[in-house]
Amino acid sequence: MKALLMSNSKTTQPLQSPRPPTSQASPISEICKRLKRLRLLEPSVGVLGFFIMTLLIICCFFYLDYRAAARGLKFTGRSERFSWLQKNGSREVRMVDFLGEEGSGCDVFEGDWVWDEINYPLYESRDCRFLDEGFRCNENGRPDSFYTKWRWQPKNCNLPRFNANLMLEKLRDKRLAFVGDSIGRNQWESLLCMLSSTVPNADSIYEVNGNPITKHKGFLVYKFKEFNCTVEYYRAPFLVVQSRPPAGSEEKVKTTLKLDQMDWTSAKWREADVVVFNTGHWWNYEKTIRSGCYFQEGSEVKLEMSIQQAYRRALETFFHWIRNDVDETKTQIFFRTFAPIHFRGGDWKNGGSCHLGTLPVLGSSLLPSETWNQFEIFNGILSSSPPSSQLGAINLQVLNITGMSSRRKDGHPSLYYLGPKVGPAPLHRQDCSHWCLPGVPDSWNELLYAMLLKHEYESDDHLLEKSK
Ligand SMILES: *[C@@H]1O[C@H](CO)[C@@H](O)[C@H](O)[C@H]1NC(C)=O
Ligand SMILES: *[C@@H]1O[C@H](CO)[C@@H](O)[C@H](O)[C@H]1NC(C)=O
Ligand SMILES: *[C@@H]1O[C@H](CO)[C@@H](O)[C@H](O)[C@H]1NC(C)=O
Repeated sequence: MKALLMSNSKTTQPLQSPRPPTSQASPISEICKRLKRLRLLEPSVGVLGFFIMTLLIICCFFYLDYRAAARGLKFTGRSERFSWLQKNGSREVRMVDFLGEEGSGCDVFEGDWVWDEINYPLYESRDCRFLDEGFRCNENGRPDSFYTKWRWQPKNCNLPRFNANLMLEKLRDKRLAFVGDSIGRNQWESLLCMLSSTVPNADSIYEVNGNPITKHKGFLVYKFKEFNCTVEYYRAPFLVVQSRPPAGSEEKVKTTLKLDQMDWTSAKWREADVVVFNTGHWWNYEKTIRSGCYFQEGSEVKLEMSIQQAYRRALETFFHWIRNDVDETKTQIFFRTFAPIHFRGGDWKNGGSCHLGTLPVLGSSLLPSETWNQFEIFNGILSSSPPSSQLGAINLQVLNITGMSSRRKDGHPSLYYLGPKVGPAPLHRQDCSHWCLPGVPDSWNELLYAMLLKHEYESDDHLLEKSK
């Protein structure tokens, strides 16, 4: 599993001083105590009364909304209606709802990780059939489970609570595909677990070709029968075609990446309703030149082309493809930005580690330089990409998770990716690239969920405007 994904050998990690677990245990246990105290109150009549009152008030709001809508008014209250029910830790805060009108300017990727042991994790790995062994950290012996209990809280708005049933309902008769490397697979498996947690009949979810999930290369298509929807994964770590070199190439050229051609499987995902792309981790020396993989444009192999240049060319091809080959009215495209890695004191093959991380970095954090390079190439192309005059802005939403995830050095399998029978890996062979599940990719999917709902609400509003 780990070998699927490597970091650049020249990565030098800015060393964040490892915080000793003891010094951080105190605020946590403080929170735990407070939460326990709250729980003791639960059965009391007062709380029940409060609950009923709340329900009544919510009903009132619905009624008022109905009246407003019936009068043909475009209501603006949606955003604030429930905001006072939201909690920030154990405090109540007033914040706008991302799905409401006022939430429209909210950058959901700017925020904090908030401890929330009541609502998280969203599922347990042992209840989910769709997980590779390498992601089942708890079952593989990871002793702490703090990493499963953090919620992403945007700074200026609240996200909708994830509702698997609603998401499946929105995906009815549709196809959602993930395309990319094994971190994309990580996120895909996370979503399968999140969605399946609401489906009682296990047999109603199946791989359409009967393929097993474990170590399967190529693509996998899971169908949720009751909803007639599929959640698919296509392995295409470079997004562009990797194939045999043209005849007459030098001997050292074992394969080439055709930078001007999307991956062979693109015919399959082009027609999906939602596609979530990622790429980045394979654009390094190890995975390309060192393994005899060179870059090709047209019929020409460019032996001198740098990896960065090639990556840029591939992304340009990707943007071109979105503009010219994707039906904007049908397909929603997301690009998930580079997922940070957290090897300290080396990389995956020479003893880099992350097993001491049991808590997120609360506050700002330093990113490994490799992460920023990848990120800047992507951002650069995105901002320089000329908006096509007929189509308006490019049909692409960015799942900008790099910053938020960079604080989660606690979220990787580290020593616990080898399966329950094998036990922890040796200290010098850690996985600090993938993510434990449940864990950080669940939050990416909650953001994806929020953006899908937002998109739909906005098109509804758009229709309302038009019909006026
Ligand atoms: C939570 O509340 C604290 C104290 O009121 C505040 O400083 C912090 O910014 C809040 N966090 C979020 C994510 O709103
Ligand atoms: C199931 O969804 C597909 C689209 O993914 C659609 O073409 C087909 O008609 C749907 N089947 C039923 C029975 O609704
Ligand atoms: C993504 O977030 C970073 C901060 O984490 C910001 O600098 C960057 O501009 C954002 N990029 C996009 C495309 O939104």
